[in-house]
Order: sequence, then structure tokens, then C-alpha cells
Amino acid sequence: MAQKRADHYTRSDCRVCSATRLTRFLELGPQPLANAFLDDDMLKAGEEEMFPLDLYVCRACNHVQLLDVVSKETLFSHYLYFSTVSRTIPSHFAALAAEVAARHTTRGDLVVEIGSNDGVLLSAFEGTGLRALGVEPAANVAEVARRRGVHTMNKFFTEDTAGTIARELGKAKVVIGNNVIGHIDDLHSVMKAVKSLLTADGTFIFEVPYLVDLLEMNEFDTVYHEHLSYFAVRPAKVMLERAGLALVDVKRQEVHGGTIRCYAKHIEAGEPPSATVQDLLALEERLGLGTMAPYEAFAGRVQRLRTELLAILEKAKREGKRVAGYGAPAKGSTLLNYCKIGMEHLAYIQDTTPAKQGLYTPGMHIPVVPPARFQQDPPDIALMLAWNYEAEILAKEAAFRRAGGKFVIPIPMPRVV
Ligand code: TMP
Ligand code: ZN
Repeated sequence: MAQKRADHYTRSDCRVCSATRLTRFLELGPQPLANAFLDDDMLKAGEEEMFPLDLYVCRACNHVQLLDVVSKETLFSHYLYFSTVSRTIPSHFAALAAEVAARHTTRGDLVVEIGSNDGVLLSAFEGTGLRALGVEPAANVAEVARRRGVHTMNKFFTEDTAGTIARELGKAKVVIGNNVIGHIDDLHSVMKAVKSLLTADGTFIFEVPYLVDLLEMNEFDTVYHEHLSYFAVRPAKVMLERAGLALVDVKRQEVHGGTIRCYAKHIEAGEPPSATVQDLLALEERLGLGTMAPYEAFAGRVQRLRTELLAILEKAKREGKRVAGYGAPAKGSTLLNYCKIGMEHLAYIQDTTPAKQGLYTPGMHIPVVPPARFQQDPPDIALMLAWNYEAEILAKEAAFRRAGGKFVIPIPMPRVV
């Protein structure tokens, strides 16, 4: 079975401010798509598409982004990421749902979530008296949400989709977009769609990984083709204002290696930005995010990380120790391909997602196996590719460590625990 060829183009302007002065500061590829796991037939056919994976910064608004864009139909029509696989994410979303119900809405209001995935957030609105609608482009994921009783439209969120929702259900008091804004190439049209769907007093709440955390914690592996944008507060503000929205508040969150939850309102609502917005803008200024220095320093640390991680794996091999991967998240693909870690280093990777089990990782072709294998055939050392769940995983695998097993946590710099 030959792989379907993906559509790809390289843009030449900033997707936030349209400026054309963009500077490349990190080359991680060419790399395959991070979620393009292969089955046996695909592996035999030996056809795997690679695309440049390079990070650029816009010299006008300091938006960090990829310019190589793989079509959204290729990436998101069938999706392997299910929000509910970990325990960390559902509890984070339950807290957000409680906040929305208590502070931003009253009974009967409509809450719309863009990229609602398997319905994990919206299902937490059950019993609040709010009307909840998810918009999710991946048919397989939307189906899971519907089965758990979450009202879901299987569509990309566009100006058309927003118009249909407004006509059929009315405007939304809250629009939520968690870990989806960074996936969108045409940000301006999606922001206009949000603007058109919000009630006059409505709130747009979205979460994106925070560029400051990404840089400080060397989270280069969160760079893959699905993630087109790496937001700081300053460009987020520019993006919103272009569409007539104002950034009124920001809260830093711990999930996904450091996230910002942003709150926006119609500019016409006249709400001033909170002290936190001002503080984070000042922090970004102090860090020099408008200059090349922090990006170049980051690129240097990423190269050092690769050297140190390979040294640990080579030493384990010399000592005859068995190493396996723990978790096969999309970011694992970036890390493995950038460091060129293959089966000569990792015997297998265990992952809890049934849809990934029995397949091979993109590029490096390491078999993904169910957690039972890890229990029955534990390695000496486990490379924690899903490092954002460190606490959860260490708690779950206490027995492995008691028996002498070690974890290597690759980010921010490889360490053995
Ligand atoms: P994510 O970082 O994109 O949420 O992906 C995490 C991946 O790690 C997902 O494929 C599930 C896997 N995983 C495990 O295999 N075991 C675990 O204990 C956890 C928390 C995640
Ligand atoms: Zn820009």
C-alpha cells in the first residue's frame, strides 16, 4: 500500500502580521510527519515523505513559526491524538470547564470549542445547564466524542462553520480553542470567524504552549509539522487585534511543558488588559524576544542536548543494557529523528494508545507495543519520550524503579532518575 502523497507549500510571510522578514534559527529536518506511524505494508513499501522542519522568527512581530505547511486535510482529517489518554489533561480541562461555568457564562449560554477532540473538555459541562458544541475535523475523533454524548460537528472551524452555528444555535458566550490555534495556517480567517461567533460580551479563551517555556526548557521536540506557531504574548496580541479582538488576560499553566491561557474580548467591549498581560509583555522584552540572541542560544542548547542524550544511549549499549522508549507522542518523533535514535538504541516503545500499537514510529521505524510488554519484558532503562507526564509516569511506574529500572528524561537536558 503506497502512502497518500501530502500537499505541502512554503509560505514567505508571517502568518500573524504578514511581514516578509523572517529569520531561520533551527533546522530539525527534513522529517516525516510526526503522527504518520507506519504499518507493516507501508514499512515494506519503503515510501515515506519527508518535509523541511525549520523554525523561523518574524523580525517585525517576533512570531516564531514554521513556514513549511502540510495541508490540514492531510494532517487533521484522521487523527491519532486522543486527549483522554493521560490523567493530567482531563483534570486540567475539568478545572477550565468549572471556571467557564462559574465566571464567564450563565445557564442556557452556548459554549463552542474548536478542535474539541474526543470531547474531554465539553463532557465536563454536563449538568451545568450550558449548551456545548464541539467542532472537530477528524472524523474518527469526532465519532468518539459523539459516542460519549458530546454534540460535535465534524468540520474545520471556518467563517462558514461559524455562520452556520450562529444561525442554528445563536452566538456563543464563550469560544474555546485549546492546543489548536498553533495548528492553524490561516490564522486571520479563523480569528475573524471567532469574532463573528462571539456575543457582544463574549469571551474567547485559548491555550497555546508558551514560547518562553519552550525556549527556557529546550522543548525543541514540541516542534513538528502540525504546530505551525509557537506563541509569545506579543504576537498573540497582534493576531487578535487584527481581527478586532483584544487580549484582556493571560494565565500561565503547567500542562504541555508550559502553556498560556489567553482571554480575549471584542475590542468594542473596551476591557483593559490585566496586569499579567503587561507583566508578560515586559518579561518578553527583557528576554530579548525581539532580537535573535535567545533563539540562537536555544539552537545551541538543542545541539548539546542531542550530544548528551546520544552519549547516555551509547554508554548503555556498551554496558549491555536494554533500553526501551516510554510513550510514543508526536514530539517523540521529532526527538528520535533529530537525534537519529533507532532500533540500535531502543528495542521497542510502549504506548497506551491502542491506535498506535502494532505500528512503527515515523522515520526511525521503532515498533510501538502495548504497556503489557513493558510489564512482562521490562528494559533496564526507559527513555521517557512523553516527558510532559513525568510525575504521572513516575508514580505509575514506581515498581519498575524499585526493581532497579531507570528513566532517562531528555528535556530540558538529559538526566537519569
Ligand atoms: P501527548 O504528550 O501528545 O499527550 O502524548 C502522550 C503519549 O504518551 C500518548 O501517545 C500516550 C502515551 N503515554 C503512555 O504511553 N503512558 C503514559 O503513562 C502516559 C501518560 C502517556
Ligand atoms: Zn510577524
